[in-house]
Amino acid sequence: MKVLLTGAGGQLGRCFQDRFPAQWQLIATTHQQLDITDQAAVTAFIKQHKPDVVLNAAAYTAVDKAESVPEIAEKINKFGPYYLALACRESAARFFHISTDYVFDGTQNRPYKESDNTNPLGIYGATKLAGEKLTLEINPNATIIRTAWVFSEYGNNFVKTMLRLAKERDELKIVNDQIGCPTYAGDIASAVISLIQADANSGIYHYCGNEVMSWYDFAMQIINTASVKEILSKKPTIIGISTLEYPTPVTRPPYSVLDCAKIQTYPVTFSSLQDVLNNILII
Ligand SMILES: NC(=O)c1ccc[n+]([C@@H]2O[C@H](COP(=O)([O-])OP(=O)(O)OC[C@H]3O[C@@H](n4cnc5c(N)ncnc54)[C@H](OP(=O)(O)O)[C@@H]3O)[C@@H](O)[C@H]2O)c1
Repeated sequence: MKVLLTGAGGQLGRCFQDRFPAQWQLIATTHQQLDITDQAAVTAFIKQHKPDVVLNAAAYTAVDKAESVPEIAEKINKFGPYYLALACRESAARFFHISTDYVFDGTQNRPYKESDNTNPLGIYGATKLAGEKLTLEINPNATIIRTAWVFSEYGNNFVKTMLRLAKERDELKIVNDQIGCPTYAGDIASAVISLIQADANSGIYHYCGNEVMSWYDFAMQIINTASVKEILSKKPTIIGISTLEYPTPVTRPPYSVLDCAKIQTYPVTFSSLQDVLNNILII
């Protein structure tokens, strides 16, 4: 099994490499090594290396910044997967792509199923949705996994931000009326590997952590764990605030829980959040 990974320097890309089965062959490409917005390069690379599977872990993920550079977000999130999906179709490679809960507006009060209506609230979500649509249009054999609230030991994420702020401040104000499921990038990587192993059916799947909480709850668990592990010398006070008190350029979906029943027809697993925090929070 030869797998081409794009976006190898990101959270998911790095976690995927850490878990990659030893008997498979991996071609891991960072942004510098393969720019997914360069159609000629994408096509030539796939033709030359002839992977069996391509996993696109590359994306423009700066949600607020995307509002001021919509054309860049569109190039990466819409046309990048399209070029990959097309090249995969031409080379008969399976294409696996990652998308987001931000394709939804979060006004529902039950977990989102793959078939639920989309309604992105900003440029990031809109460009990711456009990428999904173009991908499945050009390559109906593609598999897309929507995930949410991603964190890991790598890159920039909520866990890293909380630790940094806890060291700088005595008090943290964290939104307590946005609800979702923290999702460990290592678990997403393992789920993708299971889907590749199973030669999973094409289409869209939802995968997120199985513990539902607010950002405030997540922050409390991070700070408590870091304190117990003596990573923090002092514990800041954490105050719950409403979304209205923390305005951002893009409105976040208030309810972001994804229904993961469909992907569980494959052997995917969900780590406990506490176990993951215990493992990744190190001095
Ligand atoms: N992070 C979240 O909370 C979250 C939530 C839901 C869904 N997702 C989705 O999950 C997937 C993985 O996210 P992540 O958190 O691992 O993202 P990440 O850490 O931001 O990594 C994205 C990677 O893509 C690379 N990249 C950007 N433009 C590229 C291009 N034109 N060609 C090749 N590589 C490029 C980036 O490299 P440079 O940094 O060098 O540009 C970076 O290494 C994405 O599809 C994202 O939309 C993420």
